[in-house]
Amino acid sequence: MAKTRTRYLCSSCGSDFPRWIGRCPDCGTWDSLEPFRELPEPEPDAVLAGPDAASPGSGMEATPLGAITEQGPAVVRLSTGIGELDRVLGGDEASGRGLVPASCVLIGGEPGIGKSTLLVQAAGGLADSATRVLYATSEESARQVRDRCVRLGVGESLAASESLLLLAETNLARIAEQLRKTKPGVVIIDSVQMVHRPDLDAAPGSIAQLRRCATDLAQLARLSGAAVVLVGHVTKEGSLAGPRVLEHMVDAVLTFEGDRHHAHRIVRAVKNRFGTTQELGVFEMTGAGLAERPEGASVAAGAHTEPKPGSVVCPVLSGSRCLLAEVQALTATGFLGAAKRKSSGLDASRLAMLIAVLEQHAELRLADRDIFAQSVGGVRVAEPASDLALLLAVAGAHHKRALAAGTCVVGEVGLGGEIRGVSRLAMRLNEARRLGYTRAIVPSEGAGAEENEAPGIEIDAVGGVNEAIERLG
Ligand code: TYD
Ligand code: MG
Repeated sequence: MAKTRTRYLCSSCGSDFPRWIGRCPDCGTWDSLEPFRELPEPEPDAVLAGPDAASPGSGMEATPLGAITEQGPAVVRLSTGIGELDRVLGGDEASGRGLVPASCVLIGGEPGIGKSTLLVQAAGGLADSATRVLYATSEESARQVRDRCVRLGVGESLAASESLLLLAETNLARIAEQLRKTKPGVVIIDSVQMVHRPDLDAAPGSIAQLRRCATDLAQLARLSGAAVVLVGHVTKEGSLAGPRVLEHMVDAVLTFEGDRHHAHRIVRAVKNRFGTTQELGVFEMTGAGLAERPEGASVAAGAHTEPKPGSVVCPVLSGSRCLLAEVQALTATGFLGAAKRKSSGLDASRLAMLIAVLEQHAELRLADRDIFAQSVGGVRVAEPASDLALLLAVAGAHHKRALAAGTCVVGEVGLGGEIRGVSRLAMRLNEARRLGYTRAIVPSEGAGAEENEAPGIEIDAVGGVNEAIERLG
């Protein structure tokens, strides 16, 4: 009989160690290790020799690749009835879009961003098409979820009201029991951080509980054939609260972006075993839940607002979507040698590179200036095509000059101060024009090409950073 062992888990990154150490060697966090008593593992011999060894042929066998493609029915995905969510979940025209049966999906986002709202709406969509859904809520009472359903108009059809099962439970064993009894097609666990196993020698909400429960739930998905959707809270820094190990256990990880003060929400796949991670879904939080905005969206201040120095709008691409994002910069007096460079929602190393380009090629003196840069509305802007917008935001903030009203900017900046071409320029320009922008500063490289033509928007092609800075009025 194997003994139970005590191990130590880092509450920040989830790494485990045989003994306590003051600082986690993997993530560098101090005093983050928590003791954790593992459940007894089966004897190693039992695993290796196994029951299958005694009865050959009863288990899975290694199969040649060619034979696998020939067997088994094609996967039928379950549509959530929310087009934007289905698209982010992956698939294609042939296999359909939506949840893959027997898969495990994790949806992360800050508290209050709308995860429960989205999943209640998805549960309603699934139930409408007669897929049985088990919605296990560990944070709210069944009554609260019901009230939300009523407010969102979920479960109004007879099929939906019968197929949507609510369960207020935090005990994993009882959730699993209900799963066996009701045999749903989809199980939603809201949230995985609140679920616990009473037989585990760890407090509910601890890292050991989270790791074990997530493993069990992923396994339940595989064994029962139900798609399991886990809701996870993320910390302010944007990592999933607790361990990144959760990300390894599941088939897909979706993140919810946006902030509570803006109505738009963006759902992105950061990992997806069943599709691309390029796609994003755009939503708007309204009084009646999350509304899809499949035509793309603008999180920028708008084409007709008075331009401000340090604020620049850029059409960024992700998958098949174009989004009008706004980047902002502020410069303030700092100390030579200790100037601050802070960014939020942007790539910090990209900002440092652009500051160096401005110093070297545009002769801006920034060494003693504190520089703050951010993307508006909590949307992450990391595409290199947003370089020129960020560069003009910093230069504009420094010179206190703004671009003309209704102008958007797109282009990648090279270390030599040159502006490089970007992909799918016409798509970006068309989207900008649709949202009311009348002028676009674009890279001269590729600007004249036929495939980059976009009628109705004035094109201002620039080849270098100095030429672009001259456009600041
Ligand atoms: P919620 O889904 O509870 O967030 P999470 O599960 O991620 O913690 O939604 C939180 C916010 O959404 C809440 O502050 C109110 C707002 N909201 C609306 O604006 N309209 C609605 O129809 C609903 C249901 C919520
Ligand atoms: Mg919630």
